[in-house]
Amino acid sequence: MNNYSSASLTKPLTITDLQSMKQRGEKISCLTAYDASFSALLDKAGIDILLVGDSLGMVIQGQTTTIPVGIEDMTYHAACVVRGRQRAFVMADMPFMSYADKEQAADNAARLMQTGGVQMVKLEGPKIELVEFLSENGIPVCGHLGLLPQSINRLGGYKIQGRERSAADQMIADACRLEKAGAALLVLECVPAILAEEIARQLTIPVIGIGAGADCDGQVLVLYDILDIGIAKRPRFSKNFMQDASSIEMAIKNFHEAVKQGVFPGEEHCFQ
Ligand code: KIV
Repeated sequence: MNNYSSASLTKPLTITDLQSMKQRGEKISCLTAYDASFSALLDKAGIDILLVGDSLGMVIQGQTTTIPVGIEDMTYHAACVVRGRQRAFVMADMPFMSYADKEQAADNAARLMQTGGVQMVKLEGPKIELVEFLSENGIPVCGHLGLLPQSINRLGGYKIQGRERSAADQMIADACRLEKAGAALLVLECVPAILAEEIARQLTIPVIGIGAGADCDGQVLVLYDILDIGIAKRPRFSKNFMQDASSIEMAIKNFHEAVKQGVFPGEEHCFQ
């Protein structure tokens, strides 16, 4: 009998664990988190990945887009989330214009890992050379394709991406190039379910969808949307898990189970 409790021996999941989940067909659950208290609740409910999303611009800061969010904001919230969890894997968004070139990307990613304590950083867009450079320098990277909220002014609105054949082919090619460059995870946002399914099948790394259909390797949603406490209207691809729950803990657990059992997303949360 030793003096250690089992809780203190719990180690965070690793990229290898997430990779094994994909290989054995176990769906990966992921929610955004911004503070230690929710981080601990999500961890206890069994959520596999906590994403410190730059969506904190909207849900925490009351901004209308993710663009005003800075690296200081991300680092602060990342450190809070890391302190709250025991088992969950934690990754954080690189915010708008924090990865315009290799040097800046390396500095800011290092800050998120060293001060924030995260295990992986997420970059929007097909930034192949940056992903290669960061990966080669020991920084685990998650790609993000489809709807790119940091490019909202260029895209002209929150619209489904990859509906035209040429755009779909380009996204498949970009996803393959990201994996080849060293990305260890990929988020697909707001893309037709059939396209996301094709990408998840072609890649060996786990593909986490948000508004990307049921055939991704995992699902991510914004925590405040599933708890129905967001300021903005909940997107069609999300779901209010508080509706059938008597507590926040139960709503989170229900999301986790629904993802694991492949019950969420349903048809009504997917795009054709
Ligand atoms: O910031 C965020 O919440 C995200 C998800 C929408 C994937 O990047």
